[in-house]
Amino acid sequence: MDILKSKLKELSGGKILDVATQGGSFVDDMKSAFKDYDKAIGIDISDKKFDEGRQKFAGEPVEFIVMDGCNLTFDDESFDTVSISNGMHHMPDIGKAFAEMYRVLKPGGLFIIYEVCSGDLTEKQKSDELRHHFKVKVDRAKGESHNYTLEKQEILNYADNLGLASYEHFDFHCTECDPEEQDKIAEREKDIDDMLDSIKDYPEYEVLKIEAKQIKQRFRDIGYECATNLIVIGRK
Ligand SMILES: C[S@@+](CC[C@H](N)C(=O)[O-])C[C@H]1O[C@@H](n2cnc3c(N)ncnc32)[C@H](O)[C@@H]1O
Repeated sequence: MDILKSKLKELSGGKILDVATQGGSFVDDMKSAFKDYDKAIGIDISDKKFDEGRQKFAGEPVEFIVMDGCNLTFDDESFDTVSISNGMHHMPDIGKAFAEMYRVLKPGGLFIIYEVCSGDLTEKQKSDELRHHFKVKVDRAKGESHNYTLEKQEILNYADNLGLASYEHFDFHCTECDPEEQDKIAEREKDIDDMLDSIKDYPEYEVLKIEAKQIKQRFRDIGYECATNLIVIGRK
């Protein structure tokens, strides 16, 4: 991610905490953006992707721990960098999770947010938002914590409330995919089918089956482009 690299390349990440890390993909992004780092800890409420992460970072100072982002068990001011990537909208209480991340961050430490936004999206990007919101419904049917995406200003309001000494923010548009590319669209359609398949024994299945069909048709008619992400880099 060029923006992260350009902002962090002269800095050391020190001891990094990545909240809602899943398999640590954002740890990877930070590792390549920072000049160097000492250690990274990824926490997540679920260990589903930890084996993948442990394999990826084998031999590196990266650790995975099951922990609730809203109740961190770390000491105050014990990390140089805290981050959350596409995890805000998964938190049952974003304010609490942010307060916890702020608490464990050292004075002068970096607070990094990477989060997909709603609002101001092109028609092709709205296809991505619909796919995401379909996933929200599927995850909720399974009892998992997942909310619709936040507006850019809502994300910034949370950053404002932290009381950081300073922060800057940037929009990030993925330019890797051609919104009309049929192979990519077929991949996205398969995503929808797989999600639907995962709830075939749940009462929500029949309603979501109709929605799945409409979303896949939209991908073909309108195309598909990733929604805008917001990057916030702040200092405590
Ligand atoms: C979309 S994934 C984020 C993946 C990763 N950070 C990335 O950028 O690719 C959201 C993650 O939030 C996790 N999550 C949900 N509620 C959580 C909580 N209360 N505390 C910590 N992690 C949570 C989920 O288990 C899931 O792995």
